Amino acid sequence: MRHCIISTLTISLMLPLSLFAQDEATNEGVSVDPDNPVYSWHKEHDRNGTGKFYLGREIARVMSYHGAPWLERPEREKEEKISVLLEVLGLKPGMTVVDLGAGSGRISFLMAPKVSPKGKVLAVDIQDEMLALIEKKVDASGITNVIPVKGKVDSTGLKPNTADLIIMVDVYHELEFPHEMLADFAKILKPGGRVAWVEYRKEDPTVPIKLVHKMSVKQVRKEASQKEFGLEYVETIGKLPQQHVIFFQKPKK
Ligand SMILES: C[S@@+](CC[C@H](N)C(=O)[O-])C[C@H]1O[C@@H](n2cnc3c(N)ncnc32)[C@H](O)[C@@H]1O
Repeated sequence: MRHCIISTLTISLMLPLSLFAQDEATNEGVSVDPDNPVYSWHKEHDRNGTGKFYLGREIARVMSYHGAPWLERPEREKEEKISVLLEVLGLKPGMTVVDLGAGSGRISFLMAPKVSPKGKVLAVDIQDEMLALIEKKVDASGITNVIPVKGKVDSTGLKPNTADLIIMVDVYHELEFPHEMLADFAKILKPGGRVAWVEYRKEDPTVPIKLVHKMSVKQVRKEASQKEFGLEYVETIGKLPQQHVIFFQKPKK
């Protein structure tokens, strides 16, 4: 079972057809979002997507908490080499890490010991059911430096200059408001802090994940490099079997 089969319904599916432009040959079935023109809605779209587009990319549907067992599957280490991911993140004691879209907390609890004793992992998610799973794990494991945080669809809700690292494992492609979230990253990062996109490689057709759940390096760079956010591209690590790890940073000043 692939997680992208499971999805929550979004308002995108309920938009009235009258919102779509029908008369321009080049833009048939496409409408610009009246509330925020950085987004557009496409009548024709991938069945696993929302129909909402950002800079030419269709936003995927959010994975439901019903998919939590898939995130916890034992074979995930073999398939994704999470242990290698942990090595390339540059985690150090004392760091504050924001695990955005933490899900059931699989990655959060692996990062937490590496930032101990004074560091912490803020495990942010929008689904209460995911946060409840994380709370249960805190109780069961005794790892107390993972802190569940309820986020919003367009903001982490965290204070400015909080994060040394923001990590998104298989998350960014399903953010409903990527533009607002990028602005939020720029705000909540400390100077010199980094963002890591861990995304299935769209460039590689052999990676067995549905298209809207993959991202190319080119697309991530296009979105994150927009001047208004002030984030700088650092590097792309290609050591994982299926995903790339793309780093940006907030300038040190
Ligand atoms: C595919 S799961 C990945 C979970 C986890 N990162 C992992 O790899 O085990 C994506 C998660 O992102 C969360 N998510 C989606 N949009 C979000 C947002 N705007 N803010 C925080 N979490 C979000 C979903 O609720 C879901 O739990």
